[in-house]
Amino acid sequence: MRISVIGCGYLGAVHAACMAKLGHDVVGIDVDERKIADLSAGHAPFFEPGLEQLLQEVQATGRLSFMTEMSAAEGSQVHFVCVGTPQKKGENAADLSYVDAAIAGLAPYLSPGDLVVGKSTVPVGTAARLSDVVKGAQPSSELMWNPEFLREGHAVTDTLQPDRLVYGVHDGSEEHPAVQILDRVYSGPLEAGTPRLVTDLPTAELVKTAANSFLATKISFINAMAELCDAAGANVSLLADAIGMDDRIGRKFLNAGIGFGGGCLPKDIRAFMARAGELGADQALTFLREVDAINMRRRTRVVELTRELCGGSLLGQRITVLGAAFKPQSDDVRDSPALSIAAQLQLQGAVVTVTDPEALGNAARRFPELHYEEFTEAAMNRADAVLLLTEWPEYRELDPYEAGALVSAKRVLDGRNALDARKWRAAGWTYRGLGRP
Ligand code: UDX
Repeated sequence: MRISVIGCGYLGAVHAACMAKLGHDVVGIDVDERKIADLSAGHAPFFEPGLEQLLQEVQATGRLSFMTEMSAAEGSQVHFVCVGTPQKKGENAADLSYVDAAIAGLAPYLSPGDLVVGKSTVPVGTAARLSDVVKGAQPSSELMWNPEFLREGHAVTDTLQPDRLVYGVHDGSEEHPAVQILDRVYSGPLEAGTPRLVTDLPTAELVKTAANSFLATKISFINAMAELCDAAGANVSLLADAIGMDDRIGRKFLNAGIGFGGGCLPKDIRAFMARAGELGADQALTFLREVDAINMRRRTRVVELTRELCGGSLLGQRITVLGAAFKPQSDDVRDSPALSIAAQLQLQGAVVTVTDPEALGNAARRFPELHYEEFTEAAMNRADAVLLLTEWPEYRELDPYEAGALVSAKRVLDGRNALDARKWRAAGWTYRGLGRP
C-alpha cells in the first residue's frame, strides 16, 4: 500500500520505517528540514535502539522516502498523523496546533476514498472534530483513530510487534470499510496474532490517555509507598517484589525512585485532567492531581536528601549526576526528573556535573548552565556526592571500589534503587536509596 506519515518525531520516524519494513511504500513528511535530511541519509535524528539499522535496511529497498512538502502525501491511500501534542505553555491542556496544522495541510491533497489515521495522543473529542474537517475537504474520505502505545527505547519492536491494535471508527463497527483498509496495513502483526479491538472514536482516544494515567498512577503509588517506607524504616523494593507477586497487581512499573518524566506521562495526565474539566467530569480525575503531586515531590525529596548527605549544605559541593535522559535507552530529556534535579541542585549552590551516554547534547541545549562530562570517570572526579538518576546499565554495573578511588567523598544517592546497597556500603560508601533503609 502507499502510505504517508505526517510528523517524523519519536513516533512518526519509527512508524514510517516500520510500515516500510511491513512491505508498504512509505513517504515520511515533516516541516523540519534537518530532520528530513538526516532521515533521508539513513540517520536517526534521535537515539532509538534499532532504528538506524532499520532505516538503512528499508531505504535500500526504495520503499521509504522523506519529504518536507505536504504535497508528497498525494497519491497515498492511507495517511498517518503522528505529530506532537505538547503541553500548552502556562496551562495543563494539550496544544493541538500541530495536529490541526497537519490535517489542514493534508486536506487539499486527499483523493476520494483516502483514509486519514490519527496516532497522536489527543483529548477525547478531537477525532470527531477533525473528522468533519477531513469530510469537508474530501467527502468520500474517512478519519479513524489508532492510538500508539510505543515506549521510547523499545519503539521499533513495540511498533512491529504491538501487544494490541486499537481502531477507533465513526460508528464503532467491525464492518466499517476503514477497518479492512487498516487490516491490510497491519496484516503482518495481525497474522502474527496481535489482538485488534474496534471501538468508536472517543473510546479509542480515551484508551491511550487511560493507559498512560494508569501507568503514572502505578508509579506514584509505589513512590507514595516509598515515602511511607522511609518514615517506617521499611524497604520499598522488597515491598514491590512481594505485592508484585500477586498477578492482579504485577511487578512491572513498581520501581520506586525519582518518578516519571518524558514526553508522554506528565503532559498526558495533565491534559486528561484539563479535558475532564471541559467535559464537566473533573471530579473523576482529581486523583491524578495527587499522582502528579507525588511525582513532583520526588524531585524535591532528592534535593533534600542530597543536602543531608552533604552534611546539611549544598553550597560549593561538587555533585556528580549519573544520567540525564528521562529513562535509559533514550536521549530524550523532556521533563526528565534527573535533569530537573541537577538544575535544582545547581540553583541551590552546588557545583553540578552531569554525564549520560546518549543525552548530553539534548541536556546541554535544555540546561546550558550545567557542566557536562562525556565520560563517567571524568564526571566522578573529586565528587563530594554521586547521584544515580537514570539507571543506564553502565551505572548499575559501576564497581564501588573503582568509583571510590575517583571521588573526594564516598557518598552515593541511588535515585532509582538500582544499586546493591550492601556492596556499596562494604566498599566504604555512605549509601542512600529512596524508600530503602
Ligand atoms: C510511555 C508509555 O509507557 C507508552 O505506552 C506510551 O506510548 C508513551 O508513554 P515512555 O514515555 O517511553 O512511554 O516511557 P515509560 O517506559 O513508560 O517510562 C516513563 C517514566 O516512568 C520514565 O521516566 C521511567 O523512568 C519512569 N518509571 C517507569 C518509573 O519511575 N518506575 C517504573 O517502575 C517504571
